[in-house]
Amino acid sequence: MKTMMAAAAVLFLVTAVAGAQTPAPAQQTAPAGNADSGAKVWKSVGCWQCHGYEAQGGAAGPRLAARNLPWTGFSAYVRRPANQMPLYTEKALPTADLAHIYAYVQSRPAPPQNIPLLLK
Ligand code: HEC
Repeated sequence: MKTMMAAAAVLFLVTAVAGAQTPAPAQQTAPAGNADSGAKVWKSVGCWQCHGYEAQGGAAGPRLAARNLPWTGFSAYVRRPANQMPLYTEKALPTADLAHIYAYVQSRPAPPQNIPLLLK
C-alpha cells in the first residue's frame, strides 16, 4: 500500500512538472482577465464605438473577436496605435482593465458568415 501511494505521488509530480513545461498558448501569457468585467470596461472606455459591441467590427474599426490576437500585440497596439485608433495610456486604461478587455474580446464569437436578408 505504501509503495502504491509513493508511486501515485511520483506520477502526480511527473505530470505536474510535464504540464508546467508545455509551452503556453499566446492568450495564456496575458495577465488574468475576466470577460464580464471586460464587457463593462469595453463599453465605458469606448472601444465599442469603433469595434462594435461584440468586437465584431464596426464602421470605424476592424473585428477583434475570433482572431486569436496574441496579448503582446494586442496590448502594444492599444498603447501605441499606428494609424487611426486613439491611444490609451496606462492612466486612462490600466493594464488590469485591458486584460479584462482582452478576456472579453477572446470570448466573443466570429460574426455570422453572411446576412441572409441582404443577400436576397
Ligand atoms: C475611434 C475609433 C477606435 C476606438 C475608440 C478604438 N479603436 Fe481599436 N482600432 C481602430 C482602428 C481604425 C483600427 C485599425 C488600425 C488603425 O487604424 O489604427 C484599430 C485597431 C485595433 C487593434 C489592432 C487590431 C489588429 O488587427 O492588429 C486593437 C488590438 C484594438 N484596435 C483594440 C482596441 C481597444 C481595446 C479599444 C478600447 C480600449 C479600441 N481599440 C478603441 C479604431 C478604434
